[in-house]
Amino acid sequence: MGEELSRTQRLWRWLKKPLLWGIPIGIFLAVLAIGAFQGVMVASNQNAFCFSCHLSMDTIVQEYKASSHYVSDDEVLATCADCHVPHGFIDKMKVKIAATADIYHMIKGTITKENFEEHRPRLAKMVWDDMLANDSEACRHCHVGDNFDLSKQPQRARLNHELMESRGETCIHCHTGLAHKRITIE
Ligand code: HEC
Ligand code: HEC
Ligand code: HEC
Ligand code: HEC
Repeated sequence: MGEELSRTQRLWRWLKKPLLWGIPIGIFLAVLAIGAFQGVMVASNQNAFCFSCHLSMDTIVQEYKASSHYVSDDEVLATCADCHVPHGFIDKMKVKIAATADIYHMIKGTITKENFEEHRPRLAKMVWDDMLANDSEACRHCHVGDNFDLSKQPQRARLNHELMESRGETCIHCHTGLAHKRITIE
């Protein structure tokens, strides 16, 4: 009996230890946070999220809808995020953090339909620099293996693709203006 009591006492003391409670609570909160975080990551990759700013801000969405990677509202070959959000976790985080700058610019109203063409070279260059630096990772994520079978490509495409490695070229050297108005800058 005496032993029973001391066991309850010990249990009671244990229950009172906030640190020990902290562990299961901490795990619970961490699981919740990761869940919410994943939710944010997935939701922010949907076209609707990108459209929410870019549709009224500039002409990017209209151009995308006229491009070959967009078929219909229900079918796209590539979403905005497929081309613009890297697939590696670290790179993805870098983009998400950089995108908070976009929220700042959005609130500030930096880009409007009227001044977009003036800003476009600067923005396009940001994208080109990223794609040159990561060897057009986003493109290669889809155009790979059977989806990039040189033997099935028309001659003009095949010849260019065969030579690209030896010339040190990557997709974005040639395929600019693919989803948006083609521009050239010096
Ligand atoms: C909160 C509003 C907002 C949302 C949502 C948004 N953007 Fe933007 N985006 C902007 C603004 C503002 C700029 C211009 C930033 C500047 O002037 O430097 C921009 C610039 C860009 C650029 C060019 C510059 C760069 O960083 O490469 C790309 C590409 C881009 N957005 C893609 C996307 C994609 C893809 C999505 C959806 C995953 C998205 N945006 C969602 C506001 C937004
Ligand atoms: C989410 C997957 C996906 C991504 C990302 C993607 N594509 Fe595509 N792309 C496709 C599919 C699917 C087709 C249609 C079938 C095909 O031609 O292989 C296509 C078609 C094309 C075509 C032929 C149609 C045309 O417009 O001439 C080119 C060129 C092309 N993609 C280049 C690129 C480049 C360059 C990138 C990166 C900037 C890219 N794609 C990113 C899936 C993708
Ligand atoms: C040296 C320039 C060059 C580079 C680099 C290049 N392409 Fe191409 N690509 C072309 C040309 C030229 C065509 C033919 C388009 C035409 O005739 O209008 C083409 C066609 C294509 C097509 C359509 C093929 C078909 O079956 O009709 C796809 C898809 C494509 N490229 C994807 C890519 C991807 C992905 C990369 C990077 C891995 C890439 N290209 C790198 C020049 C290039
Ligand atoms: C097939 C790949 C692809 C898709 C899909 C795509 N983009 Fe782009 N985007 C590019 C490339 C490549 C550039 C670099 C400029 C160029 O070559 O057109 C670019 C450039 C941009 C720019 C800079 C301004 C400019 O005109 O260069 C913005 C902003 C942008 N994209 C946002 C978006 C948004 C928002 C969506 C969806 C509505 C989207 N992109 C869909 C490939 C893509």
